[in-house]
Amino acid sequence: MRYLMVAALSALVCFRAPAADTDAEKTALAVEALGRLQGVDINTNPKLKDAVMRVLEKTRGTANFVKLVQQFKLTGQNVGLLEVAIAQPAGESGVEAMRLMLASGDMAVVQAALDGTNVVAANKTAEALGNMAEKQVVKFLVPVLTNPKRDIALRKQSVRSLAKTSDGAGEVLKLAKDGKLGDDVTFTASTELNAVRWPQIKAEAAKVLPPLQGQNAAPLPPIGELVKMKGDIANGAKIFANASPGCANCHIVNGRGIELGPNLSEIGTKLGKDALIEAILEPSSGVSFGFEAWNFALKNGDEAYGLIASETADEVAVKAVGGIITRLKKSEVESRQQSKLSIMPAGLQAAMTTQDLVDLVEYLASLKKQ
Ligand code: HEC
Repeated sequence: MRYLMVAALSALVCFRAPAADTDAEKTALAVEALGRLQGVDINTNPKLKDAVMRVLEKTRGTANFVKLVQQFKLTGQNVGLLEVAIAQPAGESGVEAMRLMLASGDMAVVQAALDGTNVVAANKTAEALGNMAEKQVVKFLVPVLTNPKRDIALRKQSVRSLAKTSDGAGEVLKLAKDGKLGDDVTFTASTELNAVRWPQIKAEAAKVLPPLQGQNAAPLPPIGELVKMKGDIANGAKIFANASPGCANCHIVNGRGIELGPNLSEIGTKLGKDALIEAILEPSSGVSFGFEAWNFALKNGDEAYGLIASETADEVAVKAVGGIITRLKKSEVESRQQSKLSIMPAGLQAAMTTQDLVDLVEYLASLKKQ
């Protein structure tokens, strides 16, 4: 042991010396040297402790940070551990970092990340929590999921993370049964819960959150499987132009179609296949900015529904399905309300076979910037 300690310390001295090696290499060497000191209590050796803390600082955000914290039972390192969890939410070190934090009994840093305004960090934190697959994380994720003010992507991630344990999945199911789940995450919940490995939850999910159906009420495979299926671009282009599902009635591709929704000529650059499938199956979960639908009640009892194409002090132009614009005098408008739903209808997949849908997505994915 004494020999090892000397070897480790000399490696650490090298670490400080300005040798030809890169910083990263020196750090790796130092971590390796320290790795040989299993079972050493650094609190009885201030010099070693100093060295460990110096190396630790160099390893921030990496797997080695977690390794050192674990090996030397370092306390008060939750900020650094969270950095690793956020950097690798689906990796072994990220999940281990989360475990160490949970074991430390102090989840303040994790809670702050979940509650914070940095949506990406909150999202990754929720993902890492899910990958621990422990029922203890349910109490952190349910409040995020049920807060309608939180970001939609974060709430969807919470559903996916909760679905990793039977306790979490059970909570999501219960929220669905009580009507407290929220329409915008229902599709994600349905996809996740119909694919869990716990028979009872799966059976209940089939009733409470039935999977989406394609043509002839055939249940649609989950997105994860759809993404892997191979599509035929030429057939996809035909489906897009067909009267049913009617994509071209609302979208332009390379100059053809009617302009109501976004121009899709380069949509394959913007969205991956999974996001394209979601956009078709679940249009209301991520309505693009500027494409929100509005309901207008007019003083004469008429109604108007569509996107706001333009607006002046005394007039508002409403673009309805079909692309026709109606100019309403504001003096004639009784009230207006933004619709929670996209003007793009849900359920379009019912007009297609699963293969048609896969072909359509293959076609959209091929529409890229020239
Ligand atoms: C009644 C009109 C309508 C129809 C029919 C329609 N869409 Fe849409 N679509 C929209 C509108 C409006 C938006 C933007 C608002 C939103 O994101 O929900 C949109 C959004 C999208 C998006 C996301 C675009 C982006 O930039 O994020 C995709 C992809 C899409 N539609 C594909 C399709 C496909 C494929 C079909 C046919 C199966 C289709 N749409 C049918 C109106 C329509």
